[in-house]
Amino acid sequence: MEKPKTHRICVVGAGNMGHQIALSAALAGFKVKCTDVNQEALQKAEQFVANYLPERVAKGKLQTSEADAARANILFTGSLEEAAGDADLVIEAALEKLGLKRQLFRQLDKLCPLHTVLATNSSYIVSSKIADVTSRPEKVCNMHFFNPALVMKLVEVVKGPHTSEETTDIVMDVSVRMGKTPVLLKKEIYGFLVNRILAALKNEAIFLHDMGIAGHEEIDQAVTLALGHPMGPFRLMDLTGIDLTYYVGTERYQETGDPAYRPSPTIVEKYIRKEWGRKTGKGFYEYPEK
Ligand code: 3HC
Repeated sequence: MEKPKTHRICVVGAGNMGHQIALSAALAGFKVKCTDVNQEALQKAEQFVANYLPERVAKGKLQTSEADAARANILFTGSLEEAAGDADLVIEAALEKLGLKRQLFRQLDKLCPLHTVLATNSSYIVSSKIADVTSRPEKVCNMHFFNPALVMKLVEVVKGPHTSEETTDIVMDVSVRMGKTPVLLKKEIYGFLVNRILAALKNEAIFLHDMGIAGHEEIDQAVTLALGHPMGPFRLMDLTGIDLTYYVGTERYQETGDPAYRPSPTIVEKYIRKEWGRKTGKGFYEYPEK
């Protein structure tokens, strides 16, 4: 018998990642509801969609009918109940804070139909840290997108010890239908593949910067020219959010006690000043409003 297909996706979090994951899914033909407790984030996300689709049409990258269909496929709502109530798949893309994610999954488990798969887009946290608050751990896994999610092709799908194969099959299938290339991690590991590799690069770059060996621009230039990366580690932190670098380092340090994870003084200073990168208009670089 043919397995029921995923049609309706709920994205929890309309921030940096959430709004682009939601739009990628809407462009791929899924019915999407994107929700956030932050009204301003929701409005910004809706505005992004309203600007992005006609821009793609003007660029010749999208037909008007495709843009209209994507717009019709996506709904922004402040109600988690409305967003999650009929979802086949939830992609949680809220802040990188374990306590918040556990609280959300507890609520989602109550609000969603029994068949719903609950995936987290967490950048580092494995789903076994979350799945135990639900009554359906076999339907919980990681589905990790990359920033900017409309452009980057990779999705890391991570199978926890509690996750069923049927669940990872569903998430792999949705990733492909979204035009992404999923890679399956058969075992959990903190930070998965890409962010572990990236963390090594970022940490070394911050160390060299804080030692006064070179400035952030020189380090970025060196990495782009020598390694062929599209952007250096500082520009990348501005893209993914210095707040994220701060939260991840702080949580990991508190959890492990390993000082290697403690955010560097530069990151702490930028976090306190709200210089979080593109999203606040300033990070290591400045981003004048368009
Ligand atoms: N949102 C949506 N689309 C964007 C975008 C954004 N923020 N920035 C660029 N694009 C699109 C453009 O519209 C353009 O599309 P088109 O070619 O179809 O017209 C295309 O990307 C190229 O854009 P540009 O020519 O303006 O700029 P670049 O060629 O410099 O590309 C980039 C921009 C795609 C961001 C590129 O610099 C890049 O790939 N950077 C590295 C990104 C990266 O490493 N991401 C992973 C970060 S780690 C992560 O996400 C982990 C997570 O846990 C936080």
